Amino acid sequence: MRVSGTEGYADEAEELFRLYEAFPAADAHRAVLHLIPAAPSRILDIGSGTGRDAAWFAAQGHRVVAVEPTDAMRLPAMALHPSPRIEWLDDSLPDLALLRARGERFDVVMLTAVWMHLDAQQRRQAMPNLAALVRTGGAVIMLIRHGPVPAGRRMFEISAEETIELARMEDLHPVLNVRTESTQEQNRLAGISWTNLAFVSARA
Ligand SMILES: C[S@@+](CC[C@H](N)C(=O)[O-])C[C@H]1O[C@@H](n2cnc3c(N)ncnc32)[C@H](O)[C@@H]1O
Repeated sequence: MRVSGTEGYADEAEELFRLYEAFPAADAHRAVLHLIPAAPSRILDIGSGTGRDAAWFAAQGHRVVAVEPTDAMRLPAMALHPSPRIEWLDDSLPDLALLRARGERFDVVMLTAVWMHLDAQQRRQAMPNLAALVRTGGAVIMLIRHGPVPAGRRMFEISAEETIELARMEDLHPVLNVRTESTQEQNRLAGISWTNLAFVSARA
């Protein structure tokens, strides 16, 4: 059965690899670079897509768990970005059941262009799971897309306020809330914008 939120990705995987890999990870994450530790750390990338960000983190010396439920994304990503520092996992939001069963906690949990694939109930279900996966003082970093939904995809319009409130209930304190237009002209003209949110865990 297909994981909810992944609709459309398998069909377009080839084109998405071309698009996503052409956009440098450092540009995608410019607003949150100060939240990513310089020292080698444990990073969880949920909805890792083509593995672009996982490879970027691994090249900086971090160890990465890259979670991606769409086989048509994860399998070519593994071939494109082979690295002993990346572990690839077929798991999914909101439960992240395989990952949670391992009891690990990460320094940074990334959700780049993924959170808006969950409906309201799934977001409520997912937030405590995210909080359980980040160490005390570690960061949860989200990039949330706004604007027209591409044909065949499942996406929801999500307010920063709702996400901040869900996070607050899990002792995740907001440290960044910035909304920006898309830097890519074609996307900007199409009305796509982004919210960068980041939280630091105060949970012992
Ligand atoms: C817009 S892409 C972003 C990929 C990558 N994070 C990036 O920024 O290039 C969204 C990714 O989230 C994955 N995804 C969708 N629903 C998901 C879910 N319920 N749990 C985990 N990942 C999901 C999709 O398969 C897709 O690879």
